[in-house]
Amino acid sequence: MIKSDSVICQDVDELSRRAAAQFVSLADAAISARGQFNVSLSGGSTPRALYSLLASGEFSAQLAWRQIHLYFGDERCVAPDHAESNYRMVKEALLAQIPIPRANVHRMAGEKLPALAAAEYEAQLRQHFHSTEDAVPRFDLILLGLGEDGHTASLFPGSSALNENRRLVATTYVEKLNAHRLTLTFPVINNAAQISFLVAGASKAVIVKELLTTETRDYPAARIAPENGQVTWFVTQDAAVDLGVS
Ligand code: 6PG
Repeated sequence: MIKSDSVICQDVDELSRRAAAQFVSLADAAISARGQFNVSLSGGSTPRALYSLLASGEFSAQLAWRQIHLYFGDERCVAPDHAESNYRMVKEALLAQIPIPRANVHRMAGEKLPALAAAEYEAQLRQHFHSTEDAVPRFDLILLGLGEDGHTASLFPGSSALNENRRLVATTYVEKLNAHRLTLTFPVINNAAQISFLVAGASKAVIVKELLTTETRDYPAARIAPENGQVTWFVTQDAAVDLGVS
């Protein structure tokens, strides 16, 4: 029995097309209902093809970019033009190709002192979502990736950020990467209306099986459980090979 809504895709192209279709559908609904679509983008390499597809004529023309606000689920603590920057990846694949107002793109300041960047991003979130100190912003869609160790966003196993249940944005030092990161915290992520994981590659098959077929709580990604929202797993066949489904 597989938990959550799983969409098994032939390859990254199909995964991107299905995720893009969901993006357009959710954007239409949110903009019709509230005049705005607030999305948090995932970093890493898997979503790049989705972002390129959203920037293509086929999808971009269906999206009211002036009513769409793009945020980041996490960022590496590097300059925005650094090869490791999630912002740079999103800018190359998406932002540089679409008519989105600069004010609608909310970058995490990876170049700043992590604690300062986290505080500034939290303030941005509260201001944009008109959230008071004790309210938590509710994203229409949060896109997430998955690491082989079960991390998601920059919520890594053993990180103190896993215990952050008040702040909206946390900093973390990832020993094995020798890198500082910024990340949204569980309270924000688990308050989203829709969370969609984008997972591709045979290297993810073991962790995907763990997360989708057991009740494990041993991984950060296992704690993604929106109180009042949906989770969809877009998984390529090679990452779903151990699920026993086709
Ligand atoms: C990051 C991501 C991270 C990523 C996973 C999967 O900044 O790297 O937020 O959580 O989504 O590590 O990365 P891939 O898509 O490259 O496998």
